[in-house]
Amino acid sequence: MLSEAEMREIEEELSHSPSKQAACIEALKVIQRNRGWVSDESLAELAEFMKMSPAELDSVATFYNLIFRREVGRHVILICDSVSCWITGYDNLVAHFKNKLGIEPGQTTSDGRFTLLTIPCLGVCEHAPAMVVDRQTFWELTEDKIDKILEDFK
Ligand code: FES
Repeated sequence: MLSEAEMREIEEELSHSPSKQAACIEALKVIQRNRGWVSDESLAELAEFMKMSPAELDSVATFYNLIFRREVGRHVILICDSVSCWITGYDNLVAHFKNKLGIEPGQTTSDGRFTLLTIPCLGVCEHAPAMVVDRQTFWELTEDKIDKILEDFK
C-alpha cells in the first residue's frame, strides 16, 4: 500500500499535470525515490491509486530508462555508451569497473553498493567519457578519477 507521504507527493504531482497519464513518470519517480526501484507490487499499487491499468503504467515505466524495474544497488552508475564516450574510452572504463567492482553493465555488486547501467548521451560529449552516479554527473573520466568517485559513494 502506498504510504501517506507517497500519496501526498503523487497528489502534488497530479495537481501540476493536465492528466493522470501526463503525471505517470513523476509518480513513478516518487515511488522510486521512496523505495529505490519500482517492483511489480509497487507498480500495481500505483496503478490502483492512479486508476490506470498496471499494463498501461508498465509501458511508461519500461519506456523511460531511468525508472528501474529491477532491484538496484544503493548507488546507480549510469555510464554513457554513445559515440563520443565510446570513442574516448567506454570499453576501457567498463573493463575497469569489472576489475574494480566485479560487475558489468546490468549488474549489481554483491554487497549491494553499486549497480552499473548504460545510458545514451548525457549531453556533455565535449567532456567525454562521462557518467552519472545517482544525480551527479562526472566527465573526462579516467580510471583514477573513477576510483576516487567510488570512494566518495560509500
Ligand atoms: S556521447 Fe557521452 S555524453 Fe554525449
